[in-house]
Amino acid sequence: MDRLSINLQETAQWGAKSLYIATLVFILLGFFIHPLFHIGTAFLMVFVVINLYFKHIQTHHTILRNFGLLGIFRYLLESIGPEMRQYFFSSDTEERPFNRTERTEVYRKAKDIDSTESFGSQLEFDHHEVKLKHSMFPTDKLKPYKVTFGDERKIKNTYTINKPMMISAMSFGSLGEQAIRSLSKGAKIAGIPMNTGEGGLSPYHLSGGADIIFQMGTAKFGVRNPDSSLNEKKLKELANIPQVKMIEIKFSQGAKPGKGGLLPKEKITEEIAKIRHVPLDQDVVSPPRHIECDNPQNTVKFIKKVQDISELPVGIKFCLGNERDFTNLIQEMKRTKIFPDYIAVDGAEGATGAAPKSFMDNVGIPLIPALDFITEYLDRQKLRGKLKIVASGKLINPGKQLTAMAHGADAVYTARGFMLALGCIQALQCNKGTCPVGITTHDWKLQRGIVVEDKANRVANYVKNLNHEIQELLTATGSESVADLDKSKLYVRPISQEGD
Ligand SMILES: Cc1cc2nc3c(=O)[nH]c(=O)nc-3n(C[C@H](O)[C@H](O)[C@H](O)COP(=O)(O)O)c2cc1C
Repeated sequence: MDRLSINLQETAQWGAKSLYIATLVFILLGFFIHPLFHIGTAFLMVFVVINLYFKHIQTHHTILRNFGLLGIFRYLLESIGPEMRQYFFSSDTEERPFNRTERTEVYRKAKDIDSTESFGSQLEFDHHEVKLKHSMFPTDKLKPYKVTFGDERKIKNTYTINKPMMISAMSFGSLGEQAIRSLSKGAKIAGIPMNTGEGGLSPYHLSGGADIIFQMGTAKFGVRNPDSSLNEKKLKELANIPQVKMIEIKFSQGAKPGKGGLLPKEKITEEIAKIRHVPLDQDVVSPPRHIECDNPQNTVKFIKKVQDISELPVGIKFCLGNERDFTNLIQEMKRTKIFPDYIAVDGAEGATGAAPKSFMDNVGIPLIPALDFITEYLDRQKLRGKLKIVASGKLINPGKQLTAMAHGADAVYTARGFMLALGCIQALQCNKGTCPVGITTHDWKLQRGIVVEDKANRVANYVKNLNHEIQELLTATGSESVADLDKSKLYVRPISQEGD
């Protein structure tokens, strides 16, 4: 049987003919019945002109050249496709990067309302690969969580976290003022630190009183010389700000590893120029690597320099790529006995404000295999105790966070978890400045929807509930602390059983 289908070409031809006929009819009615019909004629003429323009003058869009006005529907429907799918067609476990059940869990934790579910998990168990193993004898004596950065070096200014999750790097620039203010205040209430991202330290990061991890990207915004090299005096001044507790040197991030960037001069407002220490009237390039770090020797020297100048714990963040680069770097650290205070491993599944799709889809090693490689290598080299490991990459719920810890992480970072806690609806417009919930935009008309007090409480609730559930999961695994977790507490479905 023939498929029921619409012949678009014929429909477009009929549509155009009807338009011309209607216009003619209105012209005649205007002349012979009543001049008011000319208003209708004018209206229809607009469509006639647009149709003719689409079909015969513009050269950009084939669909419009072929189908005229009718073709517009294709663009309209395409532009609202994500919303239509999200609201009407996708099932609760279908969307990406986070499906509706995952997002709902964060919303509920952030609103401090019941996030329990009934009748069983909605996940696909037949092919699902990793589960935490519970103990037949859950523990009744959990040790308080505590991780101290910088203690291996015995520095004066160590930094201790009492909860295993931190707000991952998101710069002022990729996020708007109100979002950063809410995160800062929420982090303060929750008692966790927030990372500035690579866009420099803004007054909004400090506004809520949160502890700050200052991130130094390859352009070193805020602590730079014009050639993107480190300005030691500026770093010293920044490290002396009491709220700044740690420095993170970013080598790469999962969404765009190995990619530099360009801050076009059109996007440089006076405020951004002041915060980032860049000129107002020139494009600014973020190089793909730190200018000082062209091999393992110079990289280790640079880490040491930042440690010496800042006198703070100093971590490095990267997405694992070529394993040999990593092992060579570790060997150089071993030789010189110079180690960063932590390594933040970002999986290739990480996010960003804007990055080429080819980088997001095709570059970098995902979190879990990267964590395994790094922790196993450090164990083999008997260096695991020399530094802490922080993991990130879609770790937005307690189960995933604890799984990463069982794979060797001492703590986790999440960025999108906190965006969802702020009310992100996954509209996927972070790169357009049109974020409908005012998080990734500087447009005040959109940011006005964010009430800082309210969102700060959601951030704090999210942390409280994550932490509570992490403790419950730990109890179930029979572990007294995160340090007791290891891969023996994970069930990993053997590959041979996949697909059966
Ligand atoms: C809007 C946005 C901005 C980001 N900006 C930075 C940044 O400045 N520096 C950085 O290292 N990572 C940045 N990231 C990556 C996150 O810090 C994090 O590593 C990654 O998204 C993985 O965490 P998630 O899966 O919990 O989001 C950004 C992510 C988002 C969503």
